[in-house]
Amino acid sequence: MCGIVGYIGDKKAVEFLIEGLTKLEYRGYDSAGIAVNCGLNIFVEKAVGRLDALKEKLKNREPEGNIGIGHTRWATHGRPSDSNAHPHTDCSGKFVVVHNGIIENYMALKEDLISRGHKFISETDTEVVPHLLEELYNGNFLESVQKVLNKIEGSYSLVFMSKDNPDTLICAKQDNPLVVGLGKGENFIASDIPAIISKTRDTYILNDGEIAVVKKDSVKIFNRKGEPVGKKIFHVSWNAEAAEKGGYEHFMLKEINEQPKAVRDTMSKRILKDDSAVILEELNWDKKFLDDINKIYIVACGTAYHAGLVGKFYIEKLARKLVEVDLASEYRYRDPIVDENTLVIVISQSGETSDTLAALKESKRLGAKTLAVTNVVGSSIAREAEFVIHTWAGPEIAVASTKAYTTQLILMFMLALYMAEIGKTISPERTKELIDLLKKIPAQISETLSDVDPIKTFARQYGFNEDVFYIGRSLDYDVALEGALKLKEISYIHAEAYASGELKHGTLALIVEGVPVIALATQKSVYEKTLSNIKEVKARDAVVIGIAAEGDTELEKYLDHVIFVPNTDELLIPLLAVVPLQLLAYYAAITRGCDVDKPRNLAKSVTVE
Ligand code: M6R
Repeated sequence: MCGIVGYIGDKKAVEFLIEGLTKLEYRGYDSAGIAVNCGLNIFVEKAVGRLDALKEKLKNREPEGNIGIGHTRWATHGRPSDSNAHPHTDCSGKFVVVHNGIIENYMALKEDLISRGHKFISETDTEVVPHLLEELYNGNFLESVQKVLNKIEGSYSLVFMSKDNPDTLICAKQDNPLVVGLGKGENFIASDIPAIISKTRDTYILNDGEIAVVKKDSVKIFNRKGEPVGKKIFHVSWNAEAAEKGGYEHFMLKEINEQPKAVRDTMSKRILKDDSAVILEELNWDKKFLDDINKIYIVACGTAYHAGLVGKFYIEKLARKLVEVDLASEYRYRDPIVDENTLVIVISQSGETSDTLAALKESKRLGAKTLAVTNVVGSSIAREAEFVIHTWAGPEIAVASTKAYTTQLILMFMLALYMAEIGKTISPERTKELIDLLKKIPAQISETLSDVDPIKTFARQYGFNEDVFYIGRSLDYDVALEGALKLKEISYIHAEAYASGELKHGTLALIVEGVPVIALATQKSVYEKTLSNIKEVKARDAVVIGIAAEGDTELEKYLDHVIFVPNTDELLIPLLAVVPLQLLAYYAAITRGCDVDKPRNLAKSVTVE
């Protein structure tokens, strides 16, 4: 995820900029850059790759100025490159901007600016911002920035620097973090606290809609209407390690809590303004393209494979196309029946998983059309596939995948809707209904995350059991598989997921008194059947924890413990039902004293076979 730093004071800005960006390296990035106001001109330098590449470019030519901004970029719009790296400038080189987030209406703004003679050099959404400032500048820096903010839609933390205002940085926040660090005779700006805590622990944490005018001796904050905001200083007491995790004990917990934003970002710009359709500009498929496809494979590993299982359900249900899901490590040696009428969809958070990459290459060799769903722009899988759609989850650092899974589900859902719209297998009314519900999911995930105490209690109670079973039918079974994987990989508890209907074909023999069973019962279409399976395990004296949708009054009659998630369409409920399972795994691992972020024997990116 992108990182932002800014400095204004009496020292050489470049020193803090590089130090601050180094502190943000843990967040992941693919390029970096700085800009320093040197009086006569604004010095800008950027480099694709690690910070060392930028440092190398700065050797023996470090700018002297005392006001500057810097950025590490995690590519979303446009591949990692020098020209796509931030800071971005206007045509005159007088205005410079760094940005985290997504400018949703950048295409329309860009076209308009081009028609007014502006020249763009990058593929990014951000570049419209300095050009807009150039266009709207009236001699008053703050007023002009406010005008820019009124024109842009989307999410951002932005820092603006202007050659003609060498005593001021202006920053603004909407849906992305931004903090101003208060020094003596100097002030700092950062997207994240780790960048500044070696300099100061006194900060203003900006809220959405706020703009800060930062000078070396003062910081003034305004709201959307331009009214001054009286803000309390937030004193940071975290140590450097805790600060990297945003105050959470582990990256996994931080990433679980980032899901509302990750999911919202992944949806953004992909829904038509009137909520009537999904738009996947990256694909541009038409009816003929879809009609020519007679078989779809989804191929992936681990959690991404589980997302693929849900994806199969979505595509079959909505787009009425037959889908097979395969583990990449099996598929590549299966001699798969694939030709030019096959669409192979590979899902991979990292975009580097060796088995998935090999499966993709094999599919291409056999002539298939290929689509990658990945979180990393410019990754091997993104480069190899014919089509790519990105999840915008930001970097996932914990080995256990959480926000990658939910964003993959979002994209698979949107892909299925997109295909259904083209193939006319869904009515406009149903599309609208699903899109309305989809847009509520981020808030519903937040709601699910707000009540963790019962989950902590269960984890403490059952965290020392050696076996845990997960059961469910239909989409609940797919989510059960993911829940069991989470528990296995970070708590080392033996966990197995079973399709509830399969219990009596073998597994029921393992269900004895006191064995914990997590029973998912969110799918209305199979609810009665699910209930009778739950009764089967309950009758064997298992300890059953139910996961149900709010409004379910039945399950509690039979079970001692039920965790409720907000109600929505049964297609979308996996996005909510998985959250308590992630938390259960997390707290079970804590109970057992496991190394949550780096479980034994596992690596984040599996680049070997
Ligand atoms: O980067 P990928 O999505 O291709 O990774 C696939 C699996 O290695 C990954 O999902 C793994 O199963 C996770 N550790 C699960 O939490």
